[in-house]
Amino acid sequence: SNPSILILPGDGIGPEVMAQVTRIIDWFGEKRDLKFDVETDLVGGAAYDKHGVPLSDETMARAMEVDAVLLGAVGGPKYDDLDFSVKPERGLLRLRKEMDLFSNLRPAQCFDALADFSSLKKDIVSGLDIMIVRELTSGVYFGEPRGIHKEGNERVGINTQRYTESEIARVARSAFELARKRGNKVCSMEKANVMESGILWRDVVTEIHETEYPDVELSHMYADNGAMQLVRAPKQFDVIVTDNLFGDVLSDCAAMLTGSLGMLPSASLGLPNADGRPKALYEPVHGSAPDITGQGKANPIACILSFAMALRYSFDQGDEATRLEKAVEKVLADGARTADLMGPEDGTPISTTQMGDVILEALDAS
Ligand code: NAI
Ligand code: MG
Repeated sequence: SNPSILILPGDGIGPEVMAQVTRIIDWFGEKRDLKFDVETDLVGGAAYDKHGVPLSDETMARAMEVDAVLLGAVGGPKYDDLDFSVKPERGLLRLRKEMDLFSNLRPAQCFDALADFSSLKKDIVSGLDIMIVRELTSGVYFGEPRGIHKEGNERVGINTQRYTESEIARVARSAFELARKRGNKVCSMEKANVMESGILWRDVVTEIHETEYPDVELSHMYADNGAMQLVRAPKQFDVIVTDNLFGDVLSDCAAMLTGSLGMLPSASLGLPNADGRPKALYEPVHGSAPDITGQGKANPIACILSFAMALRYSFDQGDEATRLEKAVEKVLADGARTADLMGPEDGTPISTTQMGDVILEALDAS
C-alpha cells in the first residue's frame, strides 16, 4: 500500500498554505509516481468548533497510525478567550506529547536570492545550511517541582531543569544520524559550567558519540557562546543539538539569519516504528497569521518545505525532497515574491496560489 499522510490544515492561513502542499503532493503522484494515501482532518480552533475539543480522540488515533502528519497552523483571536484546556494550541501539544516527538528539527537555510533579507551581512549568511535539533518533550518546561509558592511574605516561581540519561541519549542519536546524512558534524550546546543537567548532557552526548558514532565530528559549546557564534559565524555549524529551553531560543535566533517566518519549515520526530519510520509531524514554524488570513497573501513556502522534510525523513525520498527544494530555490531566484518577501517599494507581490503555480511549473521543468 502507499505511504499514508494525515493533513491537518488547522486555522487562519493554515488551510491556505496547505492547499498548495496538496497540489504538490498530487504532482508527485502524477509525475513521479510517488503516491500517498492522504486524509484530511481538523485540529485547533477548527476542531473545537466542530467537536468542542482542539483534537478529537479519533484524529489522535489516526495520527498515531499514519506515516506522517502535516500540520498548517492553529489558533486565532476567535479562540483567545477559551479555557486553557480547550485552546487550539492544546491540540498541537497533545499530538507532540502522545506521539512522543522528542526531536525537533529546525533547519536554517539561506536561499541566495533572499540573502539581503537576513538580519546579517550577506557574506555571513550566503550559502548557510544548518540544522538545529531541539529536545522537545522534557527539560525545564516539564520538570517537577514547578509552581508559584509563597515563601515568607513574597512569592517564588519555580521550574526544574531535569533530564534523564535516556532522554539525552535519544535526542543525541537523532542528531548524529542526521549529521551522517549531512555535513557529518555535531555541535552540542549546554551550560555545563553552571548546570548539573548540562554536565550530564555533555557526558551522555560524549558517551553516545564514542560508542556509536565515532565517525561523526563532535564538539561542545556553552549555549551562550553558541548564541554569539550563530550571529558571528553561523556557517561553522552543521548540526546543533541542544535542550528544550536553549533550543527554543537558539532556533528562533537562527531563524532570523535567513529572513521571513514564511520560509521556515520544521519536523518533530519520535521513535521509529517497526518499519523503521519515525513517528513524525511536519509543520511551518509560523502561526495562523490572523492579520493576513483570507487575503491570499500567505507565503506557502514554509509549509511546502515542511513537506520536503517529510519526503526526506519519513519517506526516504531525499532526491525528491531536493527536487522540491530546488524548485523553490529556482522561483525565488527568478524573482517570485509573496508580500512578506518584499519591501513596500518593491512592486506587486504574487498571491499564495500564484506561488504554488510557479513552484509547480518549476517542478514540471525539473
Ligand atoms: P504568526 O506566525 O501567526 O504571525 C507573525 C507575523 O508573521 C504576522 O504578521 C503574520 O502575518 C506573518 N506571517 C506568518 N506566517 C506567514 C506566512 N506564511 N506568510 C506571510 N506572512 C506570515 O504569529 P502570531 O501573530 O504571534 O500568532 C498568531 C496566532 O498563531 C496565535 O493564535 C498564536 O497562538 C498562533 N501560533 C500558532 C503556531 C502553530 O500553530 N504552531 C505557532 C505560533 C503561533
Ligand atoms: Mg520559540
